[in-house]
Amino acid sequence: MDMTLGILGGGQLGRMSVQAAQKLGIRTVIYTPEDNSPAAQVADHTIVGAYEDQDALLRFAEIVDIISYEFENIPLKTVGFLKALKPVYPDENLLKISQDRVREKSFLNSIGIPTARWWPVDKPEDIPNILKDWNQEDAILKTTRLGYDGKGQARFNLKKDNPDSVYSLLGGSPLILEEMVDFTSEISVIAARDHEGQIEIYGPVLNEHRDGILHKSVFPAPLLPQVTKKAVEMTFTLAEQINLRGVLALELFVMQEGIILANEIAPRPHNSGHWSIEACAVSQFENHVRAVCGLPVLRPGQHRPAEMINLIGDDITRLEDYKGRENVFIHDYGKSNPRPGRKMGHVTILM
Ligand SMILES: Nc1ncnc2c1ncn2[C@@H]1O[C@H](COP(=O)(O)OP(=O)(O)O)[C@@H](O)[C@H]1O
Ligand SMILES: [Mg+2]
Repeated sequence: MDMTLGILGGGQLGRMSVQAAQKLGIRTVIYTPEDNSPAAQVADHTIVGAYEDQDALLRFAEIVDIISYEFENIPLKTVGFLKALKPVYPDENLLKISQDRVREKSFLNSIGIPTARWWPVDKPEDIPNILKDWNQEDAILKTTRLGYDGKGQARFNLKKDNPDSVYSLLGGSPLILEEMVDFTSEISVIAARDHEGQIEIYGPVLNEHRDGILHKSVFPAPLLPQVTKKAVEMTFTLAEQINLRGVLALELFVMQEGIILANEIAPRPHNSGHWSIEACAVSQFENHVRAVCGLPVLRPGQHRPAEMINLIGDDITRLEDYKGRENVFIHDYGKSNPRPGRKMGHVTILM
């Protein structure tokens, strides 16, 4: 296929998207502010530039046919500039929604997808006032923008915590207060949707977090059939309502009695879907590239149950332990500095 896909962002999601594109004979160009990024190590070509550098963005747009992105905090202005030059998928509306927790939760609720109770916070006094209104003692306070891997959030207890200090700890408004969800498990569902509206689903996946960071994903998730059905239906609704072209993930909380609440949307392939590279005929990355590039999405065709374990920070040194084991597949993202909390690689184990 004579096509060049441009990807904004140079992280591991870009890297694995590039690898999927290579299988389809699609050339790739990465645009990133970072030198020697994980994606640049495998892409056909990379342009290193700031997201505000219009000359560099113009050069990027000139050499690609279609543009996508691999992380959600690409400035909307950058996407606005690029989309006048080349098509950008998924549509910037999805990006806009997933960049802002208030907008995200409003949108989910507006299409009938329930979330934990939430309210915007503009000043420290709002926090106790909202909690009293809810008749609750505990909640979770989050920055509306730029949070990831549990960063930019803090728990708040009405009796123990000081609103001013929690408020300033998070850097002030805009913030959102969310009801503490007493979940039994966390799951995610990934949807790939093409230009003709065909949808393929990965999941629900069972996710275990440590210190706010995804530690382990298991597929299939051991859930009641009606929970699986509801989670998949919600993700279908979201993909359709947003007119998705590409891949998105919906993170969900499962509570007792099978009640499900949506937590957040990722407008791109998701960490909880990495097992699909080895456990499926068509991975989330391949379906992402297919959808974005105007090819039909294909059935994932999972052939084995699987488990994925993230290698965070120094965990990467344990990669050696996994090498040479049967049915274990290692992914080293090629990052040189194993800072604590940094996603350095992952392993997938086929069961
Ligand atoms: N309202 C909530 N109730 C209980 N736990 C929560 C709530 N919101 C977030 N968490 C926990 O924190 C983790 C990270 O929060 P999330 O909103 O997904 O932000 P991030 O962008 O950092 O992934 C979740 O996976 C979950 O374990
Ligand atoms: Mg999350």
